[in-house]
Parts: sequence; C-alpha cells; structure tokens
Amino acid sequence: MLIDCDPGVDDAIALLAAISRADLIGITTVNGNVGIEHTTHNALAIVQIAGVDVPVHRGAARPLLAPTMDAAYVHGATGLGSVDLPPLSRDIDSDDAVGFILDMARSVDDLQLVAVGPLTNIALALRRDPSLPSRLGGFTIMGGAAGPGNVTSTAEFNIWADPEAAAMVFNEFPMLTMVGLDVTHKVLLGAAERDRLRDAGTPASRLAAELLDHAVHVASEIRGWAGAPIHDASAVVAVLRPELFDGRSHPVSVEVNGVHTRGMTVVDQRIGGRDGTDEQPPNAHVLFDAQTDQVVTEIVDAVIELQAQG
Ligand code: RIB
Ligand code: CA
Repeated sequence: MLIDCDPGVDDAIALLAAISRADLIGITTVNGNVGIEHTTHNALAIVQIAGVDVPVHRGAARPLLAPTMDAAYVHGATGLGSVDLPPLSRDIDSDDAVGFILDMARSVDDLQLVAVGPLTNIALALRRDPSLPSRLGGFTIMGGAAGPGNVTSTAEFNIWADPEAAAMVFNEFPMLTMVGLDVTHKVLLGAAERDRLRDAGTPASRLAAELLDHAVHVASEIRGWAGAPIHDASAVVAVLRPELFDGRSHPVSVEVNGVHTRGMTVVDQRIGGRDGTDEQPPNAHVLFDAQTDQVVTEIVDAVIELQAQG
C-alpha cells in the first residue's frame, strides 16, 4: 500500500492503522488540510511515533489551478490539533512524490494506491505517465459524495480543494473505489474509542487518542455529533476489509465550473431509462454503507496493536 495524504487528524489515524495492518511501502504528502510543510512534517512525526521506517516523499505545494485553501478550522493550524510532536529525527526521502508513486507502481506488484487528500499528486503522476492506472493493483480515494458535501453544500473537501486534479483522475482511471461522505459519515468514533486508545497507553495509541479527542470536539462544535467521522481511516479499512462495505459502480464526473457546484462529484445513479447515447460507463465503485461497528473496531484495534509490533 502507498498512501498519498494531507495529515490532517484523520489522515494521521489512517496512517497508524495502515502501518499496523498493511504493508505500507511509502507515504507521499500533498497540500490540503494545511500547507505542504505541515502535512509533510506531520507525516514524518507520525511515522517516527509509530516506530517504523516508512519513506516519506514530499509532493505538491498547491493545486493545479485552484487557489490554495486549507481546512485549518477543522484540523488546527499545524494540522494535528494541539498535539505536541517530538522533534523530528529524520527527513523526507525526496521532494518528488510523483516520481516515487510512478517508481513504486512500476516496481511493486499489485500495489494498492490510496489517496486521502486532494488529488494533485495523482493528477501530476497521470500527466507524467498516463499508463499509471494499468500498473496498479487498485486505486482508492477518500473523497467526493453522492449526497451532500461538507466544505460546501455540494462538494467534499478533497475534491473541492483541487477540482481540476480530481476531474483528470476520474476521467483517466477506468475504475477507482470512491470512499466518500456517503459512507464515512456513518463511521463515527467517539469518547469510548478515545478512552480505549488512551488506556492502551502506547505512543501511537496515545497520539490517536489526542487526535480523536480533537476531532470529537470539532464534530460536536460544527455538527452537534457525539462522534467524529475519521474519513481517511475508513478508506484504509475499505482497502483492507472490503467485505465490510457495500457499494455500487456508477459513472462519476467532477464539476469544475459550477457557481454552486464546483468540486461536486456528480454520481449518475440512474438505472435504465437512458437513451443509450454517449453515456459514460461506470468509472467508480461508490461506497454507500458499511458494517460500521466492525469498521470502528478495526480502526481502534489496528492502532492499539501497532506498538506491539514495534
Ligand atoms: O472531507 C474529508 C477529507 O478532507 C479528509 O481526507 C480530511 O483529511 C480532509 O482532507
Ligand atoms: Ca485527508
């Protein structure tokens, strides 16, 4: 597995779960929740706290065309809430995330590429090597929504932050798995999960507990929810345990021009009733439901088990 991410509170928990349960061969970072320096610093700190030597390659500092925005109101100014990170003991392996993604796609059999931030790096990789989709075992994104958005009423943040990149990715990948808000808003982690993580008492589980505490407060403030959607960790579990999820394949397009809909993933759920002319074939397996209790348990157990391997 190779994760492209913008840590980010939920990215961080996703990375810990992947380090624990997947063969994580590398991390690439992208501008998104916060700026590239923060997302990259955070990725290095997470790997260090997890006690593993996973390479980190820095990627795009801004979207292809869109203005650079952030989600610091959700993730905090540095991207990981108010967590005190240790001084870094290592640096990035390169500042060429795109080159690393392409090298790994060419050299690693059945590579699962998982993108849980804006799709800028993935679009740039496609531009450098259009054969990328054929070299992967699978491609999964946390992003989009068939239903309402989060950053706007119609758009989910990862797509909205770089709509041109997302449009390229959906146009050029014949098939991807879309772990969107439709399912991630059903997988909520709350105080019980925070306490389980905190009580486990390992560096990784204590970090996850602090991050989850931040996310639960934000979810309560913004949405009045008792639990927080840890979007990116749900995407990692969707790759590791696909049997826990239900989805359907649909044609999906990305809106880049709409005044009210820029960054929207337009999921064509029509069944039949088409005139059959120039219809786009399904290009995304869109997840709509999950065995939520089991997904939550997977995320928490993965993080708690992590240090046991350390
Ligand atoms: O909309 C949720 C997504 O946007 C997550 O990936 C979160 O980390 C932010 O990047
Ligand atoms: Ca993210």
